[in-house]
Amino acid sequence: MKYKKNIGGEMEVSLNDFGKVSKNNVWPDFNSRPHIKCDTGRSALSLALAEWKKSSNGHVWIPEYVCPSMIFTISALGIPFKFYQDLPGAANFFAPPKPEANDLVIFIHYFGKVNNNVLQWVSTQINRDWFLLEDCVQSAYSLGVGSYGDYAIFSLRKWWNAPDGSMLVSSKVLDEPKLAPSADYITTKRLMAKIFRFANHDENLHLDWVRHSENKLEYREPRQCSWVSQQLLAGIELIPNLEQRIKNWLLLQNKFATKKLRGINPLYFQLIKGEIPLVYPVLIDHDMRDNLHQWLADHHIYCSIHWKLDTGVSIEAQKLSSKILSIPIDQRYNTEDMKRVFESIVNFTRQTNYE
Ligand SMILES: Cc1ncc(COP(=O)(O)O)c(C=O)c1O
Repeated sequence: MKYKKNIGGEMEVSLNDFGKVSKNNVWPDFNSRPHIKCDTGRSALSLALAEWKKSSNGHVWIPEYVCPSMIFTISALGIPFKFYQDLPGAANFFAPPKPEANDLVIFIHYFGKVNNNVLQWVSTQINRDWFLLEDCVQSAYSLGVGSYGDYAIFSLRKWWNAPDGSMLVSSKVLDEPKLAPSADYITTKRLMAKIFRFANHDENLHLDWVRHSENKLEYREPRQCSWVSQQLLAGIELIPNLEQRIKNWLLLQNKFATKKLRGINPLYFQLIKGEIPLVYPVLIDHDMRDNLHQWLADHHIYCSIHWKLDTGVSIEAQKLSSKILSIPIDQRYNTEDMKRVFESIVNFTRQTNYE
């Protein structure tokens, strides 16, 4: 069988990625606002919660459409939370939270898009006496994000090949946190998986190591960013990589606009200037999402599902979760790769008489 380049999946590391120093800084800066570097988005979240708890006994408000790891982190800390309705891509599925004094409202900038529903509502809350946390994990580089909340969290490992790397930014001075040292059963294992993938060496072992290291991320004390990730992040050329993401996103946008595929639609129809996409999310009707997911994997195209949600959230959130698929558009891929992804989706619709 003709070898096909993998599209999507774990970001590879090669030995050439070490020892470089780029002129850009991939760590968001925000005019030098107080910040703490740590290992994962959930560590950044638990640091933010610890800061907030110093002056509050209130509730946390979280959107129904949320990464389950966040619910896990909040629950593990014994903090009471309530849901409010916010679904990515659907203007009429936003029902603002009703925070009381000192509560903490968390909102998410989904998939690289700035969450204007929430920002417009926040702009009407002139004398708010509650706290706001912006989850920028999926939108680290979109213009303006991270500057509205009392806290903002980032997870750079979603954007680059570093096994870990995340950040909490705050509008107020932060106490020096006690961060546990980086754990090699998480970061070294992940690093080796990435090196194996780059070298096309033992696919099963690489997948096992990714799974093991990801499972170890369940709630535990926040850790420092590993040395290896700091090295990798220091060598990344920011601008051309972000430009490639935009280019790939726009190419798929154009393909989906030109050729209508019955039952498969983009979640977003446009990218606003300044937005840097994480992935290209599509919605698939008729319970066919899992079939398309598998079909693409059979063609070496590996998509994520953000996120698998079931009980505990609204029917709308569950429906969205059952239809969504995130198509990879990151800096590893070029125009030919994006064309191949689209053609594979078209072939899927033909094979299933969907066209
Ligand atoms: C919106 C959002 N917030 C937080 C997290 C947690 O980040 P991490 O996996 O680095 O802990 C994720 C993970 O996918 C996420 O998508």
